[in-house]
Amino acid sequence: RPGWPGIIHAYSERIPLPEGARVVTLHEGGTPLVRSEHLSELTGCEVHVKVEGANPTGSFKDRGMTVAMTHALASGIKAVICASTGNTSASAAAYAAKAGLTAAVLVPRGKIALGKLAQAVSHGARILQVDGNFDDCLELARKTSAEYPVTLVNSVNPVRLVGQKTAAWEVCDVLGRAPDVHCLPVGNAGNITAYWRGYRDYAEDGVTTSTPRMFGFQAAGAAPLVHGAPVANPETIATAIRVGSPASWNGAVAAKEESGGLFEAVTDEKILAAYRELARHDGIFVEPASATSIAGLLATAADGRLPRGSLVVCTVTGHGLKDPDTALRDVEEVEPLQVDPGAVARALELA
Ligand code: F0G
Repeated sequence: RPGWPGIIHAYSERIPLPEGARVVTLHEGGTPLVRSEHLSELTGCEVHVKVEGANPTGSFKDRGMTVAMTHALASGIKAVICASTGNTSASAAAYAAKAGLTAAVLVPRGKIALGKLAQAVSHGARILQVDGNFDDCLELARKTSAEYPVTLVNSVNPVRLVGQKTAAWEVCDVLGRAPDVHCLPVGNAGNITAYWRGYRDYAEDGVTTSTPRMFGFQAAGAAPLVHGAPVANPETIATAIRVGSPASWNGAVAAKEESGGLFEAVTDEKILAAYRELARHDGIFVEPASATSIAGLLATAADGRLPRGSLVVCTVTGHGLKDPDTALRDVEEVEPLQVDPGAVARALELA
């Protein structure tokens, strides 16, 4: 959208800031809500896709990071820290660069997608690769920020979730109402918590007359909320949501229960199928974790838990370019081609 000022300015009346704060923004938010004819046809619903990969660093994390970094800068601190499966670290690195702060990021060694590591490197973050999983990284980041002069910018920092509520407000502003159902991938569970709070704000203020049922989807190998207990060794191809002990557990459960929603697990196989389907039929390239919401949409439509005729929004949380390795996994080497139109035509089976 031309002139889109970023979420803090767009929703200034709803996002409290410290007195005199300098807003740290890369003009995040205002992302496309794209109607999917293909998914609508498959499900018998009206399905819209909220494309969060269109944010400045390629994921929804920028919505929370603009608010967290604005607060951190105003507090006079010099450094921020986060644990991440990749996207939070990419976002923290970029916003810290913009703010003139130092970012330290703790990531599980060998378990974050290549594009995300490239972002943290490029923005000059101090990258600490931990021999452990995301849950170990978060515990380390929490302890460090409690003992040393460095601000934690994970979603356990409550102002992050205030920023992430804006995605729900945007959906309602664009549709002119709240959807019937909202589908999300769930990892550390901050985002489903934030969306639900955002939808409730609009309903309580009379902007909308209803709230959606929140459908949260986890990868089968990392589905603590589905099982109702933490998972010690989470495993999934969707590395962004490889989380065994979600920090916003209670917020996610409240979102599900108060909205009449559900949690469900989807296999890596189904996630990858949805990932390819969305790219090929809708022109939307997402990272594997993001396709979890689409896989869940298709599963709940197939078993009848998603009522036909519903107005549904699926958030796809991160850009496909974040994880080129997964995209290219099944690509074969191709023969080089001669500089000759005939050769092109033969290769394309036009002649
Ligand atoms: N999708 C993507 C692409 C993510 O990066 C994440 C979380 C989620 C979904 C799940 O959101 O944690 O709010 O339930 N990534 C975090 C990170 C853990 O470190 O970047 P959530």
